[in-house]
Amino acid sequence: MSTEALFSPTRIGAIDVRNRIAMAPLTRSRAGMDGVQTPLAADYYGQRASAGLIIAEATNISRQGRGYAYTPGLYTDAHVDAWAPVTAAVHAAGGRIVVQLWHVGRMSHTSLQEGGAAPVAPSAIQAGGNVFTEAGNVPPSMPRALTTEEIAGILEDYRQAARRAKDAGFDGVEVHAANGYLLEQFLRDSTNFRDDQYGGSIENRARFPLEVVEAVAGVWGADRVGLRLSPLSTAIGDTPLDSTPMETHGYLARRLGEMGLAYLHVVEGQLHAGNGAELLDVQALREAFGGAYIANNGYDRARALSATASGHADMIAFGKPFIGNPDLVERLRLETPLFEAPAATFFGGGAEGYTEFARI
Ligand SMILES: Cc1cc2nc3c(=O)[nH]c(=O)nc-3n(C[C@H](O)[C@H](O)[C@H](O)COP(=O)(O)O)c2cc1C
Repeated sequence: MSTEALFSPTRIGAIDVRNRIAMAPLTRSRAGMDGVQTPLAADYYGQRASAGLIIAEATNISRQGRGYAYTPGLYTDAHVDAWAPVTAAVHAAGGRIVVQLWHVGRMSHTSLQEGGAAPVAPSAIQAGGNVFTEAGNVPPSMPRALTTEEIAGILEDYRQAARRAKDAGFDGVEVHAANGYLLEQFLRDSTNFRDDQYGGSIENRARFPLEVVEAVAGVWGADRVGLRLSPLSTAIGDTPLDSTPMETHGYLARRLGEMGLAYLHVVEGQLHAGNGAELLDVQALREAFGGAYIANNGYDRARALSATASGHADMIAFGKPFIGNPDLVERLRLETPLFEAPAATFFGGGAEGYTEFARI
């Protein structure tokens, strides 16, 4: 099979990328409890800069938006100062890097919130699953429903985080609207029972995600803003699916396309359950959006070659393979076996399982 497409450059919105291989956002939980990245992060991302595009790990837009211990933030000047060497390291190696903007909504725990407050959500419905605290994995706390007025404040937090991402030297931002977090909680009718302008119809449930994109695009220009969706995943928070996933996500994709967003990034199928592109009418979503499409979830070399050659996707985002293979692009090019990083060091700790993987 031709390997040309996967290794050829392209343009994603206003961002020139040197190949079609993206590094998927990967939470590694190695920042301080104050959300400040350590110098190791610059080594880690710099080592992976041969990716066409790095989507840096989910990064909290506010203290309230935090649901996991040791995750980084972009809501203080110290956060900006700690991210700046990361973007510099990636740029020095010729790479491109955007940051994933994150508010976890109900996927949080009182011990991670200011003054032990309840996490916030569109509606007071408790999530399943676990979140990671200083005391280990615990079930998420019961959230409280946001008031309509509070939503404007969170919008402002997104805007500020987008500004700080610019100050830190990123090439753009990815709005995290996937994996059971705040924006997906607004989008799905399984987690949004609101009766104001942010709940009910598809248009209303998509309103807040679209307002966030508009706010962030106001800082960056829409052609440097992407958005991640996971229409068919229940994995995080045991979040039930929307009752009409194609209609809901199709509407959102169309509106994002009208705004001229840089890319749509989709976790195809159930997160971590292998690729599920066939479960979703990806082409209908792409058509509704009309811009660049980044596909993710369980891609290997053969599938990535075929998906880029056939035009299924403009880029393929690899998650787990990038953890143990800093030179993943070269390994894919040469068809070298991949190293499988141990899951025990995915979250937390220091250099081990983070920056100490061999290159070929
Ligand atoms: C350790 C780890 C951390 C992750 N952190 C994030 C994250 O911060 N944001 C996100 O959208 N997805 C996150 N994911 C999901 C990945 O981006 C990706 O969707 C998933 O691993 C499937 O892709 P893969 O089969 O190539 O690994 C994470 C996955 C793993 C394994």
